[in-house]
Amino acid sequence: MPTTEAGPTAEAGPIAQAGPVTGAGQPASGNLLTDNPELYEARFPDVQGLAARWTEAMLRAHGAGPRVLDLGCGTGRDAARLHAAGRKVVGADLSAAMLAYARREHPGPDYVTADLRGFDLGRDAFDAITCLDSALLYCHTGEELDGLLTSCRRALAPGGLLVAEMRNGAFFLGNTELLDAPTHGAVSWQGTTYQFVTTLWVDRAAQLLRRRRVWTAEGLSHAAPPLEQHSAWRLLFPQELRHLLAAHGFTVRALHDGPGPRTEPVWHEDSPPPGDLADGDRLHLVAQLTAS
Ligand SMILES: C[S@@+](CC[C@H](N)C(=O)[O-])C[C@H]1O[C@@H](n2cnc3c(N)ncnc32)[C@H](O)[C@@H]1O
Repeated sequence: MPTTEAGPTAEAGPIAQAGPVTGAGQPASGNLLTDNPELYEARFPDVQGLAARWTEAMLRAHGAGPRVLDLGCGTGRDAARLHAAGRKVVGADLSAAMLAYARREHPGPDYVTADLRGFDLGRDAFDAITCLDSALLYCHTGEELDGLLTSCRRALAPGGLLVAEMRNGAFFLGNTELLDAPTHGAVSWQGTTYQFVTTLWVDRAAQLLRRRRVWTAEGLSHAAPPLEQHSAWRLLFPQELRHLLAAHGFTVRALHDGPGPRTEPVWHEDSPPPGDLADGDRLHLVAQLTAS
C-alpha cells in the first residue's frame, strides 16, 4: 500500500494500523475497507465498469442533463467513469481516505466532503444524483432518510433524477440464506492475505441489517490481533420507499430487483427491460423530482 495520507503503510498493514486515527491524522471510519480504498477495490473489483455503465444507461434512458452528484462516491471509480462519459460530476463522501484516494486515482470529477444524511451543495445544482452500492442505506432512521431526500430535492433541478442501487430489505422477508451461518472470505493484496468472517443479522426494531466482521491477516512482518468491526444498513421496503419519495416530491420511474450491476444474471446493455418485482437481494431505483 502506498504511504499516503489516504492509508497506512504496507509494512504495518491496514489491520495493525486500524484504530481511531488513520494516516495523517484523519479520523478512521471504523470500516477497514473504507479506510483503505485500495483494499476496497481489491475486494470489490469492477473491471468492466458495470456500475457506472448501468448508471449511465439509466441517466440516458430517463433523459438526465449533464450535472451529476455521486453521493457516497467511495473510491471515485464510478464518478470518474461518468465523467469520462461526458458528464460534469461531483463525488461526495464522508471518508477522508476515500476522497484522497479518489482525487489521486480517479481524477476528473470534483470531490467534496458531504454527509448524505443532510448536505447543501447548492440549489438546483445537479440534474441527477446517484447513490450506488447501498450508500443510501447508511440513512438508518426515518429522520436521516428525510434529511437525504430534503437535501436531494434542494440540490436537484426541476425534473432531476435520483438513481440508486442497494440491498433490498424485502429480500429478507422469507429468505434467510444470508443470515443462516457466518460466511468466510479472503482478499489478497500486496503479498498479504486478509481473511474475514462475516455474520449478518436482522435488528427488527431498528429495521437494520447488522454486520459483524472479524478480520485477520497473514503475511504481515509482525502479528496483528484480529480486528472486529460493525456496520449496519437500513432495511428499506419498496412501498416504504415509494411513500418516502412521494412525500419529498419524487415520482418513481423504476423500482425493481434487476437486472442490475450486482445481480445474477448481471445487467448488460442488451438486457431485457426490468419488470417490477422486488424478490431479489438488490433494489434498483430511478425517481424523478416532479414537484416544484
Ligand atoms: C459501500 S461504499 C459504496 C461506494 C461507491 N458508491 C461504490 O459503489 O463503489 C459506501 C460509501 O458510502 C460512504 N458513506 C457512508 N456513510 C456516509 C455518509 N453518511 N455520507 C456520505 N458518505 C457516506 C462510505 O465512506 C463509502 O465510501
